[in-house]
Amino acid sequence: MSIETLAETAQAMVAAGKGILAIDESSATLARRFADVGIPNSEANRRAYRELLITTPQLGEHISGAILYDETIRQSTRDGVPFARVLADSGILPGIKVDKGTQPLAGCPGEVVTEGLDGLRARLEEYYKLGARFAKWRAVIRIGDDIPSGTCIDANSHALARYAALCQEQGLVPMVEPEVLMDGEHDIETSYEVHEVVLRSLFDALYQHSIALEGTILKASMVVPGSGSDDVASIDEVAESTLMCLKSTVPAILPGIVFLSGGQDDEAATAHLDAMNRMGPHPWPLSFSYGRAMQSAAMKLWSQDLAGNIGKAQDTVLSRARANALAAQGQWSR
Ligand code: 13P
Repeated sequence: MSIETLAETAQAMVAAGKGILAIDESSATLARRFADVGIPNSEANRRAYRELLITTPQLGEHISGAILYDETIRQSTRDGVPFARVLADSGILPGIKVDKGTQPLAGCPGEVVTEGLDGLRARLEEYYKLGARFAKWRAVIRIGDDIPSGTCIDANSHALARYAALCQEQGLVPMVEPEVLMDGEHDIETSYEVHEVVLRSLFDALYQHSIALEGTILKASMVVPGSGSDDVASIDEVAESTLMCLKSTVPAILPGIVFLSGGQDDEAATAHLDAMNRMGPHPWPLSFSYGRAMQSAAMKLWSQDLAGNIGKAQDTVLSRARANALAAQGQWSR
C-alpha cells in the first residue's frame, strides 16, 4: 500500500469540521455501560445499539470515521446490510480497534501493558477485507505514587510502534492512542509532565520503527488535573497546557490529532476542544474521537424505551456530533 493512499485516508479522518465516532467498546466494556443504565447485555442489544448509532441520519456531515469492535465489524443492520457498508455509504471511514486490552505489566506493580500483537498481521488483513481503512490501539498510562515508570512507558510505546508498522504494511492508517488516565489525585502540572514523557517516548519509538507519520493519526488525552484532585483548571488552562505539551512533542508532519473524552462530561469535552481551536492556527487539525462524550446521552435515552426511543436517541447523537464538529473549528457556542 502506498504512503500516498495512507496519507489520503489520514487526511480524510481529520477533514475540516469532522471527527471520529468511537464505538469500539469491547463486549465487556459495553456490558458495563449497559448495566449503568439498565440495558440487558445481549448480542441482540449490542447489535441494535450499534445500528442505532451508525444509521443516525446525516451523521456523515460531521463524522469522518467510526471505530468498530471485532464483533461489530461482523454485524449487519436488521435488513442485512453490513455495518461497514452502511458507514462507507454515508461517507464515513470504517475503523477497527485491534488491541486486545491491557494486562498487568510484570515487574511493574500497578501498571499495565496493552496486548494483541501476536497474529495481528493476519487479523489486519482480514479487517481490511471487511472494509476497515484505519485501526486503533490504546495504551493506558496510570499516574500514581512512583508511576508511571519508564519501563511501562517504553513497553507501551514499543507495542504501539510495532502495531503501527503492521497497520501501514497492511494498508490501514494506525491511530496511535497513548491514554494518560484522568484517575488519581495528581495536579495539572503532573499530568503535563507525564504526557510530555509519554509522547516523547511514543514518537521516538515510531521513528525507530520507520513509521510514516504522514499516514498516522494521534489519539491523545488532554492535560487535565486528576479526577480525584482538588486542583481546578479552567477551560483555557486545560487548552493551553494541552497545546503546549503537543507542540513540544508532536512532529508537524502528522496529518492530525484527535482527542478521547476519557470520562470528561460531554460539555467539558466539547468546550476544551473548542478552546484549543480558538487558540489556533496550529500545526495540525485538532478534532475529536469521543466515545462516552458522543454516546452517553443517547444510550440513556435509548435505555428508557428500546423500541420507541431510537429516533430521539439518534437526534442526541447528531446534536453531539454537530457540537463537536463546531468545536473542531473553534466555532462552538453553548
Ligand atoms: P472515550 O472518549 O470514552 O474516552 O473513548 C474513546 C476511546 O476510544 C478510548 O479508547
